[in-house]
Amino acid sequence: MHHFHYLKNELYCEDIPVTEIALAVGTPAYIYSHATLKRHFRAFDSAFEGMKHLTCFSMKSTSNLAILKLFASEGGGVDIVSGGELYRALKAEVEPAKIVFSGVGKKVEDLEYALESDILMFNVESSQEIIKLNEVAKRTGKKARIAVRVNPDVDPKTHPYISTGLKENKFGIDINDAPEQYILAAGLKNIDVTGVSCHIGSQLTQSSPFVDALSKLKGLIRMLEDTGITIRYLDLGGGLGITYDSEDPPLPDEYAGAISKELGTADLTLILEPGRVITGNAGILVTKVLYTKTAREKTFFIVDAAMNDLIRPSLYDSYHAVQPVRKSDRGTVTADMVGPICESGDFFAKEREMDAFEPGDLAAIMSAGAYGFSMSSNYNSRPRACEVIVNRDRFYIIRARETFEDLIRGETSPDCLI
Ligand code: LLP
Repeated sequence: MHHFHYLKNELYCEDIPVTEIALAVGTPAYIYSHATLKRHFRAFDSAFEGMKHLTCFSMKSTSNLAILKLFASEGGGVDIVSGGELYRALKAEVEPAKIVFSGVGKKVEDLEYALESDILMFNVESSQEIIKLNEVAKRTGKKARIAVRVNPDVDPKTHPYISTGLKENKFGIDINDAPEQYILAAGLKNIDVTGVSCHIGSQLTQSSPFVDALSKLKGLIRMLEDTGITIRYLDLGGGLGITYDSEDPPLPDEYAGAISKELGTADLTLILEPGRVITGNAGILVTKVLYTKTAREKTFFIVDAAMNDLIRPSLYDSYHAVQPVRKSDRGTVTADMVGPICESGDFFAKEREMDAFEPGDLAAIMSAGAYGFSMSSNYNSRPRACEVIVNRDRFYIIRARETFEDLIRGETSPDCLI
């Protein structure tokens, strides 16, 4: 359920017509609904109400400070994967004691920064990382709380690029090798073993892979207990999917229910790292049709947003619904909606029946709140879009559109080179 809806053929975000926002801020523009963000965060977090838990929003999905601040004010923590994300989290006033640090290649500087910030836990992914973290902690006079990120070899049944918990993936430590790594870690003076973690993939549309992973992790925790290692935190990662088209993923309540049933009475604090399920359907990308072109029975709608703004269709062939911002009575046509970038992979929809757009019309690319702006780039020297949040009948620019000057910031051209 989200707050983008039609009223008299006009697409609204909460109580404001999207056209009004686009006229004020230009296009392309990301527009998020405050009510939807809040509702999704609460629906997810409250689904785990009966269990000791911490919801650590996965900020790689949507990293704008205003949105992070909103979730922090709801009591949430964050899942980070870089020093830059830690910087953003702290700027957004997320409590360090609610930050977990995942990622297969953490840099020494980032380990130092996170230790200094006294974050809750590092999800470590290799024995070399454990040793490095111990070294850095010793040098800085700290003790690092860790969970070993385990690869449980469970098939999440999702796109191969976003599967992470299979044997062939680069992530985590094979569950069969994990006990050895725990014993290594437990013997290190500046490491405090506190958790087990996993993240098996993204855009999962069934609960069963999560339950299978949890069952394997429980077995590991029992085995560790027998060797005298006590686990307090169980981090199940993120991954719950959303409806982009006709997918029917479990609702947060069903997902939490399945986890609770498998978890039983284990005395552990659950950590969840949801991203997409909270922000995916809370944001849209609004774009303007520049030209229409018909060639050899194909129709193209060329718009002012491109793969640099939203790369998901190009990268994963993902589906995003395309809706008119103002419904017309021109009927529909089968067409491709494409961007101006010099690559054939620059498309939002292919051979799709959609409104018969005309130049100047606005289109909304739906479900763009997660992995939309956060994956955007400056390819083709295109300034990145602005981000706007709507709260009832008001809207706020939460990230200004980049300028041409922004594009060359930091570049220098030494005279001796010419
Ligand atoms: N935790 C970890 C350790 C992760 O690697 C991820 C996502 C999450 C949590 C959050 O997963 P979510 O709840 O959002 O599914 N760019 C891709 C998705 C990549 C996901 C990477 N990891 C896309 O646009 O579909």
